[in-house]
Amino acid sequence: MRLRAPLYVRTAALALATLAGLGSARAAETTPAPKPHEHADEIWGADYFPNTPLTTFDGREVRFFDDLVRGKVVGINFIYTNCPDACPMETARLLEVQRLLGDRLGKDVFLYSISIDPDNDTPETLTAYMKKWGVGPGWTFLTGKSADILELRKRLGVYSDNEGEAGKKRDHNLSMVIGNQTTGRWMKRSPYENPYVLVTQLGSWLHNWKRPPVAGQDYADAPEIRKVSNGEDVFRTRCAACHTVGLGDVLEPEARRVGPDLYNITKLRPRAWLERWIAEPDAVLAEKDPLATALMQRYMGVQMPNLRLTPVDVQDVLQYLEDATTRLNQDLDQRFAAEKAARKAARAGRPASVASAPPSTTP
Ligand code: HEC
Repeated sequence: MRLRAPLYVRTAALALATLAGLGSARAAETTPAPKPHEHADEIWGADYFPNTPLTTFDGREVRFFDDLVRGKVVGINFIYTNCPDACPMETARLLEVQRLLGDRLGKDVFLYSISIDPDNDTPETLTAYMKKWGVGPGWTFLTGKSADILELRKRLGVYSDNEGEAGKKRDHNLSMVIGNQTTGRWMKRSPYENPYVLVTQLGSWLHNWKRPPVAGQDYADAPEIRKVSNGEDVFRTRCAACHTVGLGDVLEPEARRVGPDLYNITKLRPRAWLERWIAEPDAVLAEKDPLATALMQRYMGVQMPNLRLTPVDVQDVLQYLEDATTRLNQDLDQRFAAEKAARKAARAGRPASVASAPPSTTP
């Protein structure tokens, strides 16, 4: 049922182009050129990747190439636990990837989140962060020495020159690198990537399609590509990593994300509160707004990030939430009406004693 197979083709073409993006010119200046045939058996092997010493959240000393990457299919990103806006989104998206990959994570796909603020991110801090978010086995958080990690980022091509001093960490380059060290296929992905696409890339494409697609996950399940409103676009790219509309709590509890489901939210909360919360949740929380404080306690202390939306985006996304709720209500109404009609038809064809039985509560 791989209806949108041509996507694979496009992805592959894109990936071929990305090798060039790995490692900046700058890194090449500072690293001695590899000896030509030293690792002829390995594409992008030990002669390319640094063997950076790192410490895992549970205090193990590891080496980047030997222990994390060699012979594996991996996804690597750079985060810091104090990050107010962008990293929580990235972490939330990877939580989806974790959920979709299931027990393959840690077996044939490995995720690494490496801190770019190692002075602050001790193994204990990382452990607490992982616990708060519900990070499971196969996804390892690491820290190390600042200079080493900087060098590693440059080598992986995920360091931006305009980051400047430490205070500007917020602008840190938001790319994730995924690859298969054995085949030498590497590509950069945006953390805003649809998690279904990331999972297909990590779980299938990087395994040369030798592995079957992750059960039940398919491009056919990915949201359809069609003309979307600005509000829907904002929701998909900025909110959907952490929120569902109608799915999470109502229809499909196992699809629950890190934030609350937003079904009917425009009716449940005052408009002014919603506008302000979506625009600057950090400020609302700082003022100890009672609703915000209660919500944050309910959601494991995970704080909704300030996504720096424009006032127009805030209005548009609220409109989208309202429309999505209306659509869902209509769908549910239709479904109930159809079920009711089916029951009525069934009753009409049955003996009177059955027809008079109380209606079943199970759908
Ligand atoms: C990194 C995860 C994350 C992202 C991204 C995110 N949120 Fe949230 N959101 C949360 C969490 C967690 C809460 C619960 C309150 C808290 O803990 O801060 C929340 C709460 C909310 C609430 C209040 C729900 C209620 O019951 O009153 C609204 C509304 C909301 N978010 C809208 C949005 C919108 C719109 C976007 C996108 C523009 C967005 N959020 C992006 C995590 C996120």
